Amino acid sequence: MRAVRIEEFGGPEVLAVSEVPDPVPGPGQVLIRIAAAGVNRADALLRAGSYHAAGRPPLIPGAEAAGTVAALGEGVTGFRIGQPVMALDGGDNPGFYAESAAVAATQVTALPDGLDLTAAAALPIAWLSAWNCVRALARVAQGETVVVKAAASGVGTAAVQIAAEAGARVIALAGSPEKAAWAGEFGAAETIDTSRFTDEGEVGEVLRLTGGRGADVVLDTVGGQSLRRSLRETAHGGRVVSLANVALEPSTLDTRDFYPKNIAILGFQLTNRQIHGYDPRSDLREIAERVAAGRYRVPVETVLPLERAREAHERLESRDNRGKIVLSAR
Ligand SMILES: NC(=O)c1ccc[n+]([C@@H]2O[C@H](COP(=O)([O-])OP(=O)(O)OC[C@H]3O[C@@H](n4cnc5c(N)ncnc54)[C@H](OP(=O)(O)O)[C@@H]3O)[C@@H](O)[C@H]2O)c1
Repeated sequence: MRAVRIEEFGGPEVLAVSEVPDPVPGPGQVLIRIAAAGVNRADALLRAGSYHAAGRPPLIPGAEAAGTVAALGEGVTGFRIGQPVMALDGGDNPGFYAESAAVAATQVTALPDGLDLTAAAALPIAWLSAWNCVRALARVAQGETVVVKAAASGVGTAAVQIAAEAGARVIALAGSPEKAAWAGEFGAAETIDTSRFTDEGEVGEVLRLTGGRGADVVLDTVGGQSLRRSLRETAHGGRVVSLANVALEPSTLDTRDFYPKNIAILGFQLTNRQIHGYDPRSDLREIAERVAAGRYRVPVETVLPLERAREAHERLESRDNRGKIVLSAR
C-alpha cells in the first residue's frame, strides 16, 4: 500500500509517500481502508522528533482517520466488512497517513448514517478533546462565560460550538481580524483579535467584556505565556483548562494570579487519558451523531492527497489554517 513514511526526523520535506507492506490485523484489531486522515500538531511534533510518545523512524504519522472496515482480526466482533468507521490512536501509533491501518478494535467507532468520511476524520482528536475539556473537565454550565483561545483552530472551532451548545456565552480569541471574525461564526457571542493587543491588552479586553469579573472558564491550547494570561482572565472560582503548548515555550506563573481567586487549573491530554482508562467510543459516537444531525459544523478547510502531506504540514505550521486539514487516501 501507499503510506507517508518518515525515514528520518526533520521538516515537512521528510514526508514522502512510499510503498510499504499491507498491514495485517492481529488479534483484537480491525483493518481499516482509510478514506481520510486528520492532520494534527502532534503529527508535526512527531515528524520533527519532538513528540513525547513517538518511537524512532521509520514511522507513519497520523493519529486519527475515517474509512471502512476491510478485515477483522481474531476475536473481533461487532463490526461488518465495508462499515464506515473512525479510529483514534490510543498510544501505539497505528499510522493513519496511509491507505490502510490495523488498529485495536477498542479504538474504532462506527459512524452514524449520513456522516461524510472527511468530516469524520477530523473528529477523533480535536472534537473529542474539546468535548472532554468543555463537558467533563470544566463542566461548563448554562449562563457561564467561556473564553476559547485559538478559536479558529481545529480544537477551537469545536470548543466554541460545544460550549455554546451548553448555554455558555463564548468569547473567541484568534490571531488576526479575519480569523477572529470567522471563529465568531461558530456561535461565539464576542470575538477578540489578539493581534491588536499586547499581553496586558488581551487580559484587559477579556475583563472589559466580562464587566471586570473575568470568565468562568478559559480553554487554553496556546500554553506558554498564554497560561499566565488565562489565569488573569478567569473569574473567582473559575476553571482554566490547559491542554497544549502550541507556543512551545515555558509558562511562568505567579501563584498570586490564581490561589486568591480559588481557581482550578485542569490539565488534559487525550492519549494519556486513554492510557489511564478512558474509553473514547461512546463520546465519539455522540459527537458524530450530533454532526450527522447538523448540530455541529466541522470546518475542514483543506483536503490534500497523501502525496501532498508536506504541504499539509506547512499549512498547519503557517498558523493560517482555519479549522482542520485532512489528507485524502483514496
Ligand atoms: N492535550 C490533548 O490531548 C490535545 C488534543 C488535541 C490537540 N491538542 C493540542 O492543541 C493545540 C491546538 O490544536 P489544533 O488542532 O486546534 O491546532 P491548530 O489548528 O494548528 O491551531 C493552533 C493555533 O494556535 C494559535 N497559536 C497561538 N500561538 C501560537 C504560536 N506561538 N505558534 C503557533 N500557533 C499559535 C494559532 O491561532 P491564532 O493565530 O489564532 O492565535 C494557531 O492557528 C495543538 O498544540 C495540539 O497539539 C492537544
